[in-house]
Amino acid sequence: MIVLKTARELKLMREAGRISAGALRVAGKAVEPGVSTREIDKLAYDYIISQGAKPNFLNYNGYPATACISINDEVIHCIPSKDRIIKAGDIVSIDLGAAFEGYNGDNAATFACGDVSDEAKRLMKATEESLYEGIRMAIHGNRVGDISNAIQQYVEARGYSVVRDFVGHGVGASLHEAPEVPNFGRSGRGIRLVSGMTLAIEPMINVGTPDVKQMPDGWTIKTADGKLSAHFEHSIAITPEGPVILTIPD
Ligand code: MF3
Ligand code: CO
Repeated sequence: MIVLKTARELKLMREAGRISAGALRVAGKAVEPGVSTREIDKLAYDYIISQGAKPNFLNYNGYPATACISINDEVIHCIPSKDRIIKAGDIVSIDLGAAFEGYNGDNAATFACGDVSDEAKRLMKATEESLYEGIRMAIHGNRVGDISNAIQQYVEARGYSVVRDFVGHGVGASLHEAPEVPNFGRSGRGIRLVSGMTLAIEPMINVGTPDVKQMPDGWTIKTADGKLSAHFEHSIAITPEGPVILTIPD
């Protein structure tokens, strides 16, 4: 079932989005050589708590942290650790969210640590741009496939591949709601988008094969070929005035 949000709910979604984005900004600024992913997780946790919100990944299906912090060929869902030290040249995907008064924000971005390869820079830029291409299609009367196709076309035209095994989603009183929002698909297909829907759009884009594999920890997802992956995500609302990004910091 797809839940349409009232104006009151959208206001709370905006608050949850603002806090989620603030936490992501704090976390991203901490990406430096020698810093552990656990330290970054703690900064995000403290920020979310300071805003009167709750880290909504923590304990979700047993997930043990505030953020997922996935480096280089790690695609998503890597658990922060004090033993995982970021080094210059890494690209660091941070995914996190906050719940505020019962409503959820969800966002992600990939950050460069120091000087990264041109390949990494291009991948990050294409992934972020593809997110905005998708958001542009999140218009009342369009279909989910219009978002999916815009993302896929954009990244494949640049030689990258779209992860198929994980998708974006509705977001609201639950972190994950209907509908699914794949980052690949055909225009004009899928459910119709209407004002009041709130979606988390989140392309996960690989340099090489789209295939991924799960690590023995039961969480970490890596590219099957060991090549780089990037991830950008916003929570957005479909409104009569067009798409509104909810995960914007102060
Ligand atoms: N990052 C996922 C998403 O964007 C949710 C994380 S689930 C968790 O939809 F269990 F890892 F927290
Ligand atoms: Co998400």
